[in-house]
Amino acid sequence: MLRPPETFLTARLAARRATVADAPAVLAAYANDETVTRYLSWKAHADVKPVEEFLGHAEEAWRTGKGAMPWLLHLRDTSELAGSIGVSLGTGSAMFGYVLAKKHWHRGLMAEALSSLVEWSLAQPSIYRAWAFCDVENPASVRVMEKAGMQREGVLRRWHVCPTIGSEPRDCTVCARVK
Ligand SMILES: CC(C)(COP(=O)(O)OP(=O)(O)OC[C@H]1O[C@@H](n2cnc3c(N)ncnc32)[C@H](O)[C@@H]1OP(=O)(O)O)[C@@H](O)C(=O)NCCC(=O)NCCS
Repeated sequence: MLRPPETFLTARLAARRATVADAPAVLAAYANDETVTRYLSWKAHADVKPVEEFLGHAEEAWRTGKGAMPWLLHLRDTSELAGSIGVSLGTGSAMFGYVLAKKHWHRGLMAEALSSLVEWSLAQPSIYRAWAFCDVENPASVRVMEKAGMQREGVLRRWHVCPTIGSEPRDCTVCARVK
């Protein structure tokens, strides 16, 4: 079974597999911020417990290769935790999701991380499609995908629930790079 690398480096970021022990740092850096979680599938947390649960599932995914496998992104110059990016491998495809602490937005960091993983995924003989989706009202995320070489394919209507906004599924922009 195909397994992503547990670590990777970009010009400014050092990425490593997330573990349960990272929960307090993840909570403090971005998981407690509802501006950050607005378009995500989970609400901002006040407590470390749900973050530990999520990271427990992440450890299981890294063990089995099934489900979303997240890395934590640390700045190489200060070692500060900046955010996270994850991949889910399907038949012939790699799907990405990502989040960055607000203080690190607008510096091109996520495009840097996503570009690196898109390159890795499409270099695998069995992967033909690198893709991601985001809320139609999240243009910064669409730009990140475009900067990573993906093209807009369309809108997935009523695709994803953002619990910070409401309980109904919302329309999403889907982007992909294929070979
Ligand atoms: C989406 C997110 C990852 C972007 O990360 P980032 O490192 O700030 O992104 P980058 O700096 O690489 O690129 C952002 C691009 O969006 C553009 N952008 C930002 N806000 C925008 C807006 N409101 N409208 C249009 N474009 C916008 C920026 O100008 C930049 O493009 P440019 O380099 O061509 O100028 C970050 O904002 C985040 O973590 N948001 C919360 C979590 C989230 O929404 N994740 C995505 C879920 S699918």
